Formats: sequence, structure tokens, C-alpha cells
Amino acid sequence: MTTPHLKIEDLHVSIDGKEIIKGFNLEIKGGEIHAIMGPNGTGKSTLASAIMGHPRYEVTSGKVFVDGEDILEMEVDERAKAGLFLAMQYPSEVSGVTNADFLRSSINARREEGDEISLMKFIRKMDEKMAELEMDESFSQRYLNEGFSGGEKKRNEILQMMMIEPKFAILDEIDSGLDIDALKLVSNGVNAMRGNDFGCLIITHYQRLLNYITPDHVHVMMQGRIVKSGGAELAHRLEAEGYDWVKEELGIEDETVGQEA
Ligand SMILES: Nc1ncnc2c1ncn2[C@@H]1O[C@H](COP(=O)(O)OP(=O)(O)OP(=O)(O)O)[C@@H](O)[C@H]1O
Ligand SMILES: [Mg+2]
Repeated sequence: MTTPHLKIEDLHVSIDGKEIIKGFNLEIKGGEIHAIMGPNGTGKSTLASAIMGHPRYEVTSGKVFVDGEDILEMEVDERAKAGLFLAMQYPSEVSGVTNADFLRSSINARREEGDEISLMKFIRKMDEKMAELEMDESFSQRYLNEGFSGGEKKRNEILQMMMIEPKFAILDEIDSGLDIDALKLVSNGVNAMRGNDFGCLIITHYQRLLNYITPDHVHVMMQGRIVKSGGAELAHRLEAEGYDWVKEELGIEDETVGQEA
């Protein structure tokens, strides 16, 4: 298998006619972990939703390629099949669908007809991954995210990632709401997936997560685009000094996507 390759080229995204993502470029290859940090309201979650094909987000220009294929032409399910996975900042609750059923259909939707995962294999894998994440067995039969605590929802997003084994995972604030032990379990889960056939984009506000998952590249997002990139040390500096020095260095007054023309 060739190494997966995600390429985002000069992406522009609008919501209700307002431009939020303004010329975003990034390339991620299999084996790489990238982190995006950035102040609130700078377009991080919008970027994630647009890549996955959320219908409210209108891509006005730019391209997103997975292994050379333009995914912006694809429906959401086709993007998933192409290997993309998003762990959402605010996972939705879906009543009436059990976690196990949801996971099994998510896995099978990404496979060819006739190549569905066997029930035995599925159950074995789910038991194994839930044990790794120290999730109680009862979560498999509960409705998807319904009544889950904040931290339980985040753990469940990582369970999905571990079960689906995507080529590329975008993890939007997967650390928010996790207690220290859960943070380690979730990080172990991500680290276990590290390898040439997996690339990851981690959106986070805190260096703490990056102590457990060492990123190859760290990017700062402001005004709907990457304004600065570096290695893991960049996250340490942001943790220690905040964002003012970046804004000063680049002459940015308002980092949000709101006011500027
Ligand atoms: N559906 C929407 N309708 C109107 N405005 C929106 C919508 N979605 C996003 N925005 C606006 O776009 C901007 C960027 O939002 P986004 O959620 O991408 O920020 P973020 O960088 O993820 O912030 P945070 O760190 O707080 O999660 C915000 O000002 C937000 O209010
Ligand atoms: Mg966000």
C-alpha cells in the first residue's frame, strides 16, 4: 500500500455568505501527526467540518485531495470511504441507534459490498478497543452519545477512530473535558495508530495533550489560515507565552475571522 497523502490547497470556506476559511494550505502524509493551535473563533472547527463535507459550509475555492483524488466533489459517505475521519468538538447524541450498531455500520459503509466485517470479528475488536480505553461494556448497547458525559463522548470518538482505522483522522479538541487518566488512554489510542498508513490532524488549545502525542508539526491558525508553523517546540512556546508574540511578529491586530474585510 502506498503512503496516504492529504493535500489542502488554498481552501476558502463560507458560512451564510461570510468567509471563514481564507486561503488554507496544508499537506499531511501517512506517518505524520500535525497539530493546529489557535485562539477561539479562528476557523479550526470550520476547517474540519468543511473537509468532511458538512452541508452548511460552502467551499468557494481551493482543493482538497486524498491520495490525489479531489474529495470536494464527493458526498460525505464517499469522503469517509476515501479514508477521512472526524472526531467532533461537540459530538451529537443519536437516540435509537446503539453505539455498537453505529460502529458496525460505520465500518461496513467504508467497505465494499460482500466484504462486511463478521459479527464475531466486530465484537472481538470492539471488546478489545473498549478495554484499551477502559470503557464499561454497557457503552456498546447505549444509544450513541445519549447522556454520555463530556469525557465519555470524547472517549467514544476515539473508540470510533480505533474501530474504523481511517487513513486520516481529524481530532477536534479531543482533550477537552478529559480527566488526566482518560487523556492518557486517549493519547495511547492515537499513538497506537501511528504508522505509515495513518496521518492525523489534532486541533487543540493545550500543549498538555502534545506531551502525550508528540506532533511532527505544529501550526498556528489565525484569520482562517495558517500563519505560523514549527515543530513541537512551537506548542511549548505558545503554552508559555500565549499568542500575542505571534500577532506582534506578523502584525495581526484581530486574529478572529470576523471583522477584517
Ligand atoms: N454555522 C455558523 N453560523 C455562523 N457563524 C459561524 C458558524 N460556524 C462558525 N461560525 C463562525 O465562524 C468563526 C469560526 O468558528 P470555528 O468554530 O471554526 O472556530 P474555532 O477556531 O474552532 O474556535 P474554538 O477554538 O472556540 O473552537 C466563529 O466566529 C464562528 O462564530
Ligand atoms: Mg472549534
